[in-house]
Amino acid sequence: MTVQITTMKEQHLDQVLRIEQEISGIPWSRRLFEEEIARAKDRRYRVAVTEENEELLGYLGMLYIIDEAHIATVGVDPNHWGHQVATRLVLDALEAALAEGIKDCTLEVRAHNDRAKRLYQRFGFAPVALRRGYYHDNGEDAIIMWLYDLDAPSELARRRGIADTLKQDWQKTHG
Ligand SMILES: CC(C)(COP(=O)(O)OP(=O)(O)OC[C@H]1O[C@@H](n2cnc3c(N)ncnc32)[C@H](O)[C@@H]1OP(=O)(O)O)[C@@H](O)C(=O)NCCC(=O)NCCS
Repeated sequence: MTVQITTMKEQHLDQVLRIEQEISGIPWSRRLFEEEIARAKDRRYRVAVTEENEELLGYLGMLYIIDEAHIATVGVDPNHWGHQVATRLVLDALEAALAEGIKDCTLEVRAHNDRAKRLYQRFGFAPVALRRGYYHDNGEDAIIMWLYDLDAPSELARRRGIADTLKQDWQKTHG
């Protein structure tokens, strides 16, 4: 399977919303996604699609606030979990933020979402604060994570290492 990361467009929203309904306790509406993707200047919404049949595997939305990047949403179709789709999307987002001159990135994650926390920790995100009862569907706390200094040599090396594992994965499946 060859995965391509590309800009989220209106034509992707049916598939994005299908995944969103399946995985999110507080699913975003079509209207919200439409408003977000229309704001090209300070938003970056991307989708992971298969090159072969244009199946949508996952998506990530990021916003820029002055000199910070905020990852607002990440979702992957459960049928494709564990195949580094989210890893590709996060890598793409962090490199894009850095290309804009942004060096710090933050996000919120549910306190019990171990899978997502592991994903972010692999990229160097660290828990910095807690918002108690933040998620209104089940009262779960939000952990606020930050990744500082995207251009630090250690962070560049970390992301290179992650990118190399993606290449190896690609070579494994494509010989
Ligand atoms: C959390 C979520 C986005 C992860 O998506 P994913 O595509 O399955 O994530 P990845 O495949 O990139 O990474 C997960 C697994 O791949 C493996 N992996 C990925 N990159 C790796 C790397 N560089 N080295 C080693 N292992 C790696 C790991 O085994 C990892 O498994 P783990 O969860 O046991 O650590 C997905 O589960 C999801 O959509 N969940 C519901 C929505 C959600 O929680 N969103 C986040 C809100 S903050």
